[in-house]
Amino acid sequence: MSSFESRQQVDIPFAVPFTHRLRFTTDCLGQDDQVLLSLLEPSGEGPARVQFWVDENLAQPGLCGNGEDLLERIAAFARRHPERITQAGNVQLVPGGEVIKNDIHVLERMLKVFNHHNLDRRSYVVVIGGGAVLDAVGFAAAIAHRGIRLVRLPTTTLGQADSGIGVKNGVNLFRKKNWLGAFAVPWGVVNDETLLSTLSDRDFLCGFSEAVKVSLLKDPAMFAELCRVAPRIQQRDMRVASPMIQASATWHLKHITQGGDPFEMLEARPLDFGHWSAHKLEPMTDFQLRHGEAVAIGLAIDTVYSSLCFGFPRRDASAVLRCLTSLGFELDHPLLTETDVLFQGLEEFRQHLGGRLTLTMLHDIGTPFEVHEVDRERMRRAIAHVRAFARAAGENLAVGH
Ligand SMILES: NC(=O)c1ccc[n+]([C@@H]2O[C@H](COP(=O)([O-])OP(=O)(O)OC[C@H]3O[C@@H](n4cnc5c(N)ncnc54)[C@H](O)[C@@H]3O)[C@@H](O)[C@H]2O)c1
Ligand SMILES: [Zn+2]
Repeated sequence: MSSFESRQQVDIPFAVPFTHRLRFTTDCLGQDDQVLLSLLEPSGEGPARVQFWVDENLAQPGLCGNGEDLLERIAAFARRHPERITQAGNVQLVPGGEVIKNDIHVLERMLKVFNHHNLDRRSYVVVIGGGAVLDAVGFAAAIAHRGIRLVRLPTTTLGQADSGIGVKNGVNLFRKKNWLGAFAVPWGVVNDETLLSTLSDRDFLCGFSEAVKVSLLKDPAMFAELCRVAPRIQQRDMRVASPMIQASATWHLKHITQGGDPFEMLEARPLDFGHWSAHKLEPMTDFQLRHGEAVAIGLAIDTVYSSLCFGFPRRDASAVLRCLTSLGFELDHPLLTETDVLFQGLEEFRQHLGGRLTLTMLHDIGTPFEVHEVDRERMRRAIAHVRAFARAAGENLAVGH
């Protein structure tokens, strides 16, 4: 019998080396521009071809870290280095916030622009914006030619502390978060502190729920520090806020590169602690709640649930709720009464990964573990507890405590 006729099974595991390049700067379009430049390798046939994509909320004249116009700063950056980079077309503006992820037509427009300017796999898409813009532009870059090099410059605390570091890109479809998406490792990420200065207070806060999340999963000392400096973070004191963003970014980076499951092939999504309810609350509120705000509520719920069911110390659960509150998060929302709708989020969370439902819960701060079912009655109690805590905290504030 020839080998062609014999039945064969050939399974060969293989690994692909990736490098995740994360940089921290304070002025990457000005004094520190070598940081960005060094990521944009020339193509071999001349300068690197770069297309800039900008969150339109950053593109208003004067709205840039140091009072200058961001579009002008990009143009000046390109003019200073003609031997190193050439711009593929004008800077492209896209809608900021969740709206870019909710409108599938924006995706088509982005692909048309890539095609019109003949971007190829050695071209660079440099995207400057909030997490939503990074997700959507990143997804378009991931599917065009099966992957154009993507350099992210996150401009929100959430982008710098979490999403900008990730390997996930995507948009919302069927009113479900990130239903359409792709894993793709960015070519580089530049966290520039100056870009955060124009954020609204509301959006400035949002990244810190993800910092609390990662500290609860990985780093008790970081959680203690967050509790200590929370009121100063709320005041936007960058001397304490920056190190926390950096610590969060570094933990996310470590998890992705060393955690053994960057593309979520296994059962669990530990970085999505507190997210089953957060991802449901966002569409339930018609995206009135920001991701970071919904995550703060989701963390509070799953922390209290961990305490009710798995012996997570009660005093630590109180510390988590206090920490989130003193950062400035509102932990109550009227739609939390609609627990039946909220619980649909469990099934949606399961479906996103397939297989059994797998949620991360906490035994202790820094000791996460996985569960595969939820006691809905106790989860309702956890939600009620969080709401009662939030109302009491609100009343204390109202009487000036
Ligand atoms: N890919 C991932 O791994 C991952 C992880 C976490 C969250 N996310 C996603 O990130 C999104 C949320 O991102 P976000 O919290 O950054 O909010 P966002 O992108 O919605 O931005 C919030 C608002 O701030 C504006 N903005 C952004 N930067 C600004 C600046 N410097 N100055 C003034 N305005 C600015 C935006 O235009 C928007 O209006 C959600 O869609 C969430 O699902 C993705
Ligand atoms: Zn998140």
